[in-house]
Amino acid sequence: MRRLLVTGGAGFIGANFVHHWLQHHAGDRVVVLDALTYAGNRNNLDPVRQRPELHFVQADIADTALVESLLRDERLDTIVHFAAESHVDRSIHGPDTFVQTNVIGTHSLLKAARKVWLEEKAVAQHRFHHVSTDEVYGSLSATDPAFTETTPYAPNSPYSATKAASDHLVRAYHHTYGLNVTTSNCSNNYGPYHFPEKLIPLMIVNLLQGKPLPVYGDGQNIRDWLHVSDHCRGIELVINNGVAGQVYNIGGGAEATNLTLINSMCSIVDAHFARDSALKSRFPNAPAAHGKPSTSLITYVKDRPGHDRRYAIDCRKIENELGYRAQTTLDTGLRATFAWYLANETWWRAVMDGSYRECISQQY
Ligand SMILES: NC(=O)c1ccc[n+]([C@@H]2O[C@H](COP(=O)([O-])OP(=O)(O)OC[C@H]3O[C@@H](n4cnc5c(N)ncnc54)[C@H](O)[C@@H]3O)[C@@H](O)[C@H]2O)c1
Repeated sequence: MRRLLVTGGAGFIGANFVHHWLQHHAGDRVVVLDALTYAGNRNNLDPVRQRPELHFVQADIADTALVESLLRDERLDTIVHFAAESHVDRSIHGPDTFVQTNVIGTHSLLKAARKVWLEEKAVAQHRFHHVSTDEVYGSLSATDPAFTETTPYAPNSPYSATKAASDHLVRAYHHTYGLNVTTSNCSNNYGPYHFPEKLIPLMIVNLLQGKPLPVYGDGQNIRDWLHVSDHCRGIELVINNGVAGQVYNIGGGAEATNLTLINSMCSIVDAHFARDSALKSRFPNAPAAHGKPSTSLITYVKDRPGHDRRYAIDCRKIENELGYRAQTTLDTGLRATFAWYLANETWWRAVMDGSYRECISQQY
C-alpha cells in the first residue's frame, strides 16, 4: 500500500492520474496538493470526490513547511509531482511565474522530501516521481532520430527551460543526497479534463461554437500525441518498478503535424453532426450544423516565437524495461476525446471564465 502526495492533482494530467490510481489501487491514501491556479479545477476530481482515501489540500508547492507537515502527519511515502505552470504561450507572455513554480516550487518540494524522508527517516521507503516534458530536449528536424533519455537538453521556451531546471534539481537530489527519485519526460498529452486553451480542446470547443481554428505558421509543426490514460499507466509503471535515479521517456507513438491533427478532428466533427441531428440544435453556430465543412474555420495566425518544429519520443527504454505499451491510437483517442467534450459541455463552459478569455485574446 502506498501513501501518495499528488501535486497538481486538480490539473489535467494530475486529475486523470488520481482517477486512475484510485481505480486501480483502492485503499491507498491519496493526498492532492494543488494551488488551484487558473488551470486547476476541483471539479476535475468530481468522479472520486466521495472516496474516503482522497484528501484535498489547496496550497502552493512552495510552502515547504506545509509540505513537510503533510509528509509527516499523513506518513506519505510517494510524491508524484505534476504541479507546474504548463502552457508555453503563457510562459512567453509572463515567464516569472514559471520560474517561481517550476523551479523554486520543485526545489521546495525536494527540500521537504529530503528533510522528512532522509533526515527524519519518517518512512521506511520513499519515491519522488517528477513529471516532465519532451520539450526539454529542444526541437528536431523532419529526419532527426527521436529523443532518447540521453539526448542533450536544449530547451527553447521559458516553459521548457524551467522544466529542464527542475529536472536537473531532481537529478541532483538523487546524486547528492540519495533521494529516491525517478523522472518521466513525455510528449503532448490529450484527453478528458484538458484545459481548453491547449490545441485539441481549443479546436473542439471552437468547432462546436463556430469560432476560428487558429493554426500557427504553416501548421507543419509535428508533435507525438499521447493519450492521457497511456501516460498515467506509464507513470504508474515507473513509480512501481522504475529504478531510482533513472529517467524514462513516455510517448504515444503517434506523430502528426498540427494541420493533420486539425483536419482529422474536423472530419470527426462533420461525421458526428451528419449522424446525430440533435447536435445541430445544440450547436447551431457550428459549420457542420449547416452542412458546411468544419475545415472552413481554419485560420492561419502568426507563428509562436521560437516555435519548436518537431518533437518525437523514443520510448523503447520504458517499453523494454517496464513493459509499457501505448494502447490508444490517435484516431481512437481523438474520437473518445471529442465524445467526452460533447458529454461534458457543462465542464468546459464553466472553465471558460474571464481569465481564460483574456489569455486567449492575448495569444491569438
Ligand atoms: N499537458 C501536456 O501535454 C504535458 C506534456 C508533458 C509534460 N507535462 C507536464 O505534466 C504536468 C501536468 O501538466 P498538465 O497539462 O496537467 O498541467 P495543468 O496546467 O493542467 O495542471 C497544473 C496543475 O498544477 C497546479 N499548480 C500550478 N502551480 C502550482 C503551485 N505553485 N502549487 C500547487 N499547485 C500548482 C494548477 O493549479 C493545476 O491544477 C506538468 O508538470 C507539465 O509540465 C504536460
